[in-house]
Amino acid sequence: MNLEKQDKEILDGKHGHAAQKSMEILAALGEIYGAEKLIPITSVQVAGVSYHNLGDAGLEYLEELAQDGKVSITTTLNPAGMDLVDWKKLGISKDFAEKQIKVINAFKKLGIETTATCTPYLIGNKPQLGEHIAWSESSAVCFANSVLGARTNREGGPSALAAAIIGKTPKYGLHLEKNRQAQVTVIANAKISTLDDFSALGYALGKKIENKIPYIVGLKNANTDQLKIFSASIATYGGTAIFHIENITPNKTIIPKEKVEIHNTDIKNAKNALTDNCAVDFVALGCPHASLRELKEISDMLKGKKVKITTWISTARKTKQEAEKLGILKTIEDSGVIVAADTCMAVAPLKGRFKCMATNSAKACFYAHGSNNFKTKLGSTKQCINYAVNGVWNN
Ligand code: F3S
Repeated sequence: MNLEKQDKEILDGKHGHAAQKSMEILAALGEIYGAEKLIPITSVQVAGVSYHNLGDAGLEYLEELAQDGKVSITTTLNPAGMDLVDWKKLGISKDFAEKQIKVINAFKKLGIETTATCTPYLIGNKPQLGEHIAWSESSAVCFANSVLGARTNREGGPSALAAAIIGKTPKYGLHLEKNRQAQVTVIANAKISTLDDFSALGYALGKKIENKIPYIVGLKNANTDQLKIFSASIATYGGTAIFHIENITPNKTIIPKEKVEIHNTDIKNAKNALTDNCAVDFVALGCPHASLRELKEISDMLKGKKVKITTWISTARKTKQEAEKLGILKTIEDSGVIVAADTCMAVAPLKGRFKCMATNSAKACFYAHGSNNFKTKLGSTKQCINYAVNGVWNN
């Protein structure tokens, strides 16, 4: 890969340790993927924030970089392992909280906005069509490429952080127009309207076409929340980092000859695959982090009611603050629901605390099974809230 004069100086350590380490990572990635050069980027989203996943080795690495490192462009952060303010409410231990705060402080020292959300595009880090960026967090990457039309590979935490420090990323993969073209046409011949329908569509497609890039026809409309949950699901089950939807997403693409169809039975089978026979003891919504519109919808469902089982809604702190101003938060919290900012059901240390989780998110089901050993039920937001209030799962 061709490096500019200043990049070579950085690699030689003339601009400090953190910059040198970061350039080493980017240069190695560029070599592996055959990038011709580094290109400037405008935005970074860094994943790998929960101490639960990072451990002491990850914390040490961050503290080492923070000695002399600083990010050079807009950089936001994925969810942490706890609500950074109300962590006691979530039953988080003091030991864990102390370590998590050290992680956050290292990111702060690096100059990163400690937003702790997987929906940076809902709180101000919203790149525009055609912008080159370096994001980690598979759901946000898929949303950024597909819905915003920005250009990013699926970065890991360290490569995203390296890109944030240098302000550049190697030009390969989804930064190149030719790699962003659809590979299979998907005819959506099914009723897809609720968030769990979009979740199930992501699961069904992921299983059917794996990581081929789909061009989806037949969806009349899809709002931001539906596209957000679909992005999370298809990225989880298919490894997809970009999709196209006729008349909805902004990227230009060829229309592939290869076709697959999605029917109501595929949606139903996907929901069944993520629904176990179990007694729900935990309801978790907000994967990806809930938008203000979702919080409003949930608060309308909860007005004057009380929940009987532990119920979390994960969201960005900024969204929670907006909900507070509008009186939405009070209605939700008065019902006994916990609005967990900065974290989520997958990155918080929840193993052993619950057995069966109800959610509207297929991605949350994946992590509930894989990381926490929970059983799951996938249902609409209304089904989940009804269960939390009445203890009955209505089909
Ligand atoms: Fe976000 Fe956690 Fe889901 S990071 S996408 S809420 S698993």
